[in-house]
Amino acid sequence: MTQLSAAQNKPSDGSKALYGGLYGGKGTRRITVRDIALAKERGEKWPMLTAYDAMTASVFDEAGIPVILVGDSAGNCHLGYDTTVPVTLDEMTMLSAAVVRGTTRSLIVGDLPFGSYQEGPVQALRSATRLVKEAGVGAVKLEGGERSHEQIRLLVESGIPVMAHIGLTPQSVNAMGYRVQGRGEEAAQQLLRDAKAVQDAGAFAVVLELVPAELAAEVTRVLHIPTVGIGAGPETDAQVLVWTDMLGLTSGRVPKFVKKYANLREVMGDAVKAFAEDVVGGTFPLEEHSVH
Ligand code: KIV
Repeated sequence: MTQLSAAQNKPSDGSKALYGGLYGGKGTRRITVRDIALAKERGEKWPMLTAYDAMTASVFDEAGIPVILVGDSAGNCHLGYDTTVPVTLDEMTMLSAAVVRGTTRSLIVGDLPFGSYQEGPVQALRSATRLVKEAGVGAVKLEGGERSHEQIRLLVESGIPVMAHIGLTPQSVNAMGYRVQGRGEEAAQQLLRDAKAVQDAGAFAVVLELVPAELAAEVTRVLHIPTVGIGAGPETDAQVLVWTDMLGLTSGRVPKFVKKYANLREVMGDAVKAFAEDVVGGTFPLEEHSVH
C-alpha cells in the first residue's frame, strides 16, 4: 500500500490528518467517515471485521483494522440464536458499548437490529440515537436500499453517519432466504437502483452482500461512496468478514466466500483439554502457580 504523507492525506476541512492509510496508518484519534471518503478518492482498499466484545475488538483495533462493525450477526455468532432476527436493540446497545470501550482508533459501526427501524424514519432515529448516545458508536448500519432511503436520509440529516447494506439482507431471511442477489438483468437493475438510492440519501458507505462479482464491480465504479463487499468478489473498495468465521471459531460449515485465517476452535479446544487433563492428573496448579 502506498504510504501517504500527512500533507497528501490532509482533510480539506482542517481536521487533523491521518498519517498513512486507513490500514497501516497512525493516529491519535478515531477514524471518521471523512477519512473513509478520502480513502475512496485515493483508491485505497480497506478491511472491516465484526466484533461483539471489548477484548476481541481491542485485538482488531491494535492490528489496525480501521472499521469494526458490531453486526447483528452477533445473533448467530455470540448470542446463540439461529438467525439475526431475534436480536434486540438493548442487546446491540450493550455489545456496541463494549466494543467502543475496547478500542481507540477504529471507527465503530453499530448495527440496527430487525424491528428497530422498519416502522419508519422516526423509529430509526430513536433507535440510532440510543446506539450513538448510550454506546458511543461513530456510525450505524441498516439493511435495505430503496425501501430504507427515508430512514437513511433522516439519520444523516440528524448528524448520524449511516452505512447501508444491500444485496442479501439477513434480517429478511424469512422472505428471501440466504440466496445470491442481483442475478439476472432485472435483479441487477434493482441492485443498482438500491445502491444509488442509499448514496442519494446520504449513506457514507454500502455493504454489498452475496452479489455477483461483476455486478459488485459495476456498483463500485458507479458510486462515489465506498462499497464494502462480503461474498461480492475482489473489486469492492473494502472487504468485511464475520470474525468468528475468518478466525475459525464458528462450528460447522461457513459460507464459500469466507477465507479462514486461523483455526481458533481447534486451538481453544486443545488448550481447554490440556487444562482439564492437568487438573484431573494433579499437574495443575504447581508450586509456581501457588501463593503462600
Ligand atoms: O451483521 C453483520 O455482521 C453484517 C455483516 C455480515 C456485513 O451485516
